[in-house]
Amino acid sequence: MKYIPEPFKIKMVEPIRMTTPEYRRERMAEAGWNSFGLRAEDVYIDLLTDSGTGAMSDQQWAGIMLGDEAYSGSKSYYHLMKATDEIFGYDWVQPVHQGRAAEKVLFPSIVTPGQIVVSNTFFDTTRGHVGLAGGLPVDLVCAEGRDPAIPADFKGNMDVPALEALIAEKGADQIAAIVMTITNNSVGGQPVSVANMREVAAVAHHHGILLVIDAARFAENAWFVKQREPEFKDATIREITRATFDCGDVFTMSAKKDAIVSMGGLVAVRDNPELVAKLKGAVVPFEGFLTYGGLAGRDIEALAIGLEEGLDEDFLAYRIGQNQYLGERLRAAGVPFQDPVGGHGVFVDAGAVLPHVPWHRFPGHALAVELYLEAGIRACDIGSYLLDPHPVTGEPQQAIAEFTRLAMPRRVYTQSHLDVIADAIIAIRDRAETVPGYEIIEAPKVLRHFTARLRPVRD
Ligand code: F0G
Repeated sequence: MKYIPEPFKIKMVEPIRMTTPEYRRERMAEAGWNSFGLRAEDVYIDLLTDSGTGAMSDQQWAGIMLGDEAYSGSKSYYHLMKATDEIFGYDWVQPVHQGRAAEKVLFPSIVTPGQIVVSNTFFDTTRGHVGLAGGLPVDLVCAEGRDPAIPADFKGNMDVPALEALIAEKGADQIAAIVMTITNNSVGGQPVSVANMREVAAVAHHHGILLVIDAARFAENAWFVKQREPEFKDATIREITRATFDCGDVFTMSAKKDAIVSMGGLVAVRDNPELVAKLKGAVVPFEGFLTYGGLAGRDIEALAIGLEEGLDEDFLAYRIGQNQYLGERLRAAGVPFQDPVGGHGVFVDAGAVLPHVPWHRFPGHALAVELYLEAGIRACDIGSYLLDPHPVTGEPQQAIAEFTRLAMPRRVYTQSHLDVIADAIIAIRDRAETVPGYEIIEAPKVLRHFTARLRPVRD
């Protein structure tokens, strides 16, 4: 696998430092064996998230200076509206401060308590906001998405027969909305095909159900479609984006991913003035006046520029190429991962790397902790540790797979950083039996993984 060279050069640097194993063990113990508790300055390579951690371009930084801070009707707002109109073609687009703000504004307006909301797989905050609005979130990812070892082109797709069966069983009036997460973060940044989007849209619209796109990584999704869906092999990323968004009625977006900004989000509606009126009523008290929506004018300016940059095909080939390079290094060493790699990172199959650590001792978390001890790399669990106990029974819940997510910030790390990451994972795999499992000793009831304290255990 050839590394695709960076389509940029570096104008500004931020020092990072390597520490000793003893120092890292002390810091990790202090942090309660939870990498969210570490100080960033004690981390060498930070793969905790690709959200808000990308490097902005010279154009975006110039935009920060040009940002218009008018309370109402700023130039930057109109610049953003021009960009979103050209890219997505929705009737109403509202800036908000991040993705979960869009969710907070949307879900109470579309869910009647007790109704179901179905997704190809909810991201945690989206699932949380459906629940807060009184809805019942249901995940229906296709079978391939549930097996890390079986390669498939579109592992993020919705299981359409299961969706139809659910609608037949419960009745369309019990389904408030269908949410298509592109790419499908929780199953490994896996793409959704336009064909699947169209099938889901046909089912949704036949039954009069709203189709919402959770669009955080829409450009990465479009790049995969171009590579893997024959109908789109000669299409531009913009054309694929438009074909995808044409399927939806509403979209929410965390702009901290594919629009390469530190803060920002969008909520947008097509052809539904009643819903727009409801959402406007929620935006003003929660986010601020409609033309700034919780963001400074300079943030909006950088977002308008970043949305366009994120669609650049050379950039996307390099970006996803980084994950593919890391994946191929792991494959050559026999380390299993969600295959093929996703758009925003590599999801290592920690359950297979640490077979002696059972799911209730959190292999995905154990490997993430070990990566920090080994080489100062910070990653996180996407597995049973991430899942809170069942809200009704209080029983521990087992995830479909035990992943350690290596989320790749955009335009930040180089090939040699990727080699450090691969070498560290391979070294841990070679001494896998020395890696302990973990037990939670203190945790909040909801979203425990951010703040829980744990301790290593060997059963
Ligand atoms: N939807 C998806 C698919 C996401 O991945 C995220 C955030 C959100 C919504 C919420 O957006 O953070 O701007 O409020 N994902 C980050 C991650 C945090 O690390 O995967 P937000």
